[in-house]
Amino acid sequence: MAKPVLNVIIGSTRPGRVGPAIAQWFYEIAEAEGTFEVVLVDLVDYDLPIFNEPRQPVTKQYEFEYTKKWSATIARADALVFVIPEYNHSFNAATKNAIDYLHHEWKHKPVGIVSYGSMAMGVRAVQALKPIFAALRLIFSGEVTIPLPLVPVVDGVFSGNEVLNNGAKAIVRELTIMSPPLKQLRESGAF
Ligand SMILES: Cc1cc2nc3c(=O)[nH]c(=O)nc-3n(C[C@H](O)[C@H](O)[C@H](O)COP(=O)(O)O)c2cc1C
Repeated sequence: MAKPVLNVIIGSTRPGRVGPAIAQWFYEIAEAEGTFEVVLVDLVDYDLPIFNEPRQPVTKQYEFEYTKKWSATIARADALVFVIPEYNHSFNAATKNAIDYLHHEWKHKPVGIVSYGSMAMGVRAVQALKPIFAALRLIFSGEVTIPLPLVPVVDGVFSGNEVLNNGAKAIVRELTIMSPPLKQLRESGAF
């Protein structure tokens, strides 16, 4: 039987970003759990402009190919993890923009957050993102917050530590538990 799909979304887009290294670390932990087909999704590959669809995403009537491609990627997922930086005490704008492009594709799916920043560890980014998940009926399933000055990316590689690795595993395990009932709910036609 096909495994459920877990999209690990790299939210930062700037040249020189550390997001891909942290997403790769999470990807490997999720792969090792063996419960999902894990897919790395890099916002850079979608090149979404500042939201410019003429109709509201709730209509699902998309004008542009990049939106259709982004919609197909998220529609395929049974679970999601956002890997996000903290920018100015919130999460970064490219992530919000990518979220705003879609509506139904997010609904009733379990979601985790891996955030990172300086000594505030990206906690404020997590807190800013949670109400948006609530608005879109994404079901929050845990977080890991990373203090980069203490646990840095070295030569493009992030290795975590025992606490962070266990936190990442806990997210994957919760997503594993939450995915089947939520899939059943989505397919029930109740919404
Ligand atoms: C525009 C900008 C704003 C930032 N604001 C914060 C902040 O408020 N809190 C924090 O802990 N780190 C902040 N940082 C540091 C970032 O968390 C750090 O540079 C991280 O590597 C950014 O992620 P990225 O490399 O994937 O882009 C900021 C970085 C940028 C580029």
